[in-house]
Amino acid sequence: MPSAINAQDIQVFVVRKDGAYLYLPKENQLKPVSKADLRSAVAGRQAFAATAPVSLVLVSDHSKFGNLPAAAASRMGAVDCGYVSQNICLICTALGLNTVPRATMDTDALKKALGLGEQYDLIMNSQIGYPKE
Ligand SMILES: Cc1cc2nc3c(=O)[nH]c(=O)nc-3n(C[C@H](O)[C@H](O)[C@H](O)COP(=O)(O)O)c2cc1C
Repeated sequence: MPSAINAQDIQVFVVRKDGAYLYLPKENQLKPVSKADLRSAVAGRQAFAATAPVSLVLVSDHSKFGNLPAAAASRMGAVDCGYVSQNICLICTALGLNTVPRATMDTDALKKALGLGEQYDLIMNSQIGYPKE
């Protein structure tokens, strides 16, 4: 997966009814980070999104960009996030799953619940589920 200066700044959090997890790509494992149901915080003002069984929250860790000026880090993080978000759309389509990429979410509540500090930018989230029959 490409990322600006190969910063690999995008973290993927998996949010389900039973809690939230950080995806560890090298280990291909999920690390539990919260036992709370954060789906409403991910949904924000779009309640329908809270009904999805799985949401993925895409977060850029700006500290990975080193001394890059804040505006540039923000731009690179957004572009990097776009690649990940697009790949989620592609794999869901390939697997016959429904998904929607959204920027809407309660970022303050999520940051607090996921223990994310100032350097983390919550950019996009995706709801994933089976198509209605
Ligand atoms: C950067 C970005 C942000 C988006 N944010 C939201 C959002 O907050 N809520 C939402 O319902 N859809 C969101 N969308 C989805 C678009 O509204 C949707 O892709 C567009 O309406 C086209 O619909 P389609 O993908 O079903 O063809 C977002 C899409 C992108 C690319």
